[in-house]
Amino acid sequence: MNNKVVWITGASSGIGEALAYAYSAAGARLLLSSRRTEELERVKQQCAHPDQTRVLPMDLLNIASFDERVKEALGAFGHIDVLIHNGGVSQRGLVLDTELSVQRQVMELDYFSYVALTKALLPHFIERKTGHFVVMSSVMGKIGTPMRSAYAAAKHALHGFFDCLRAEVSPMNIKVTLLTPGYIRTNIAQNALTKDGSKLGQASQNIEKGLSADKAAMKMFRAIEKGKFEAYIGKPGAEKMALVLNRLAPRLLMRMAPKFVPK
Ligand SMILES: NC(=O)c1ccc[n+]([C@@H]2O[C@H](COP(=O)([O-])OP(=O)(O)OC[C@H]3O[C@@H](n4cnc5c(N)ncnc54)[C@H](OP(=O)(O)O)[C@@H]3O)[C@@H](O)[C@H]2O)c1
Repeated sequence: MNNKVVWITGASSGIGEALAYAYSAAGARLLLSSRRTEELERVKQQCAHPDQTRVLPMDLLNIASFDERVKEALGAFGHIDVLIHNGGVSQRGLVLDTELSVQRQVMELDYFSYVALTKALLPHFIERKTGHFVVMSSVMGKIGTPMRSAYAAAKHALHGFFDCLRAEVSPMNIKVTLLTPGYIRTNIAQNALTKDGSKLGQASQNIEKGLSADKAAMKMFRAIEKGKFEAYIGKPGAEKMALVLNRLAPRLLMRMAPKFVPK
């Protein structure tokens, strides 16, 4: 990694934690962000190179603090090579039932925080004439299934924004990679927001049968290092088939939509 500096949000658990271990093992210097400082410290201590790893607590919903957080992040190692936008929340609820405030909350965290942090760091990448934004989308960023309207809307929006950004900044040697994971075994379902904004608090069978976070992180690492524009990450199962059907036979996918109701 040539001592590359990689900033990972949502690094306190699940995919972000696994990415921290993968990048540290590869020799990167790391900045780990999320709200829970003790969990970030735990992840730091489990990294291959804790001495090359800094904890930078931040709440992605506090957009007003981002300029300050970017200053701190740049102060840690002098520069940043890669920002992995990963922190986020999922959602479960029918459109009919889900409160508008929940639709907004998911959009704030899963979309606007990514836009705002990108805008805060972009001048640094432009000045250095290099940099890489990595964006944790989802299969739900490409298709729509029942019970996930807020989450799918935010993830779809990421594709629009970051495809436009790539078109603007690739002549400046700045890369953008969108990752579209299928089911990955993490606490994403337990932490998902329900129709009134309370946490779902229970595991999902589909997620429990998904790819392990460690294996997902290794696949992500390879896709990022190849500079892919977009990469599906997951098992070659129903989620991958849904992506293909969405392009080739969207009506068939709609008939199958009930199969994707979260269990
Ligand atoms: N697991 C899957 O099947 C799957 C599939 C597709 C996409 N994804 C995406 O992968 C990303 C990571 O999810 P995960 O599966 O690893 O779930 P997770 O274990 O619940 O991780 C979510 C992470 O986001 C952080 N976070 C939540 N709210 C935050 C806030 N307001 N400010 C800062 N950080 C916040 C959490 O840290 P704190 O609580 O410490 O703040 C945690 O580190 C998400 O963007 C998710 O949409 C997951």
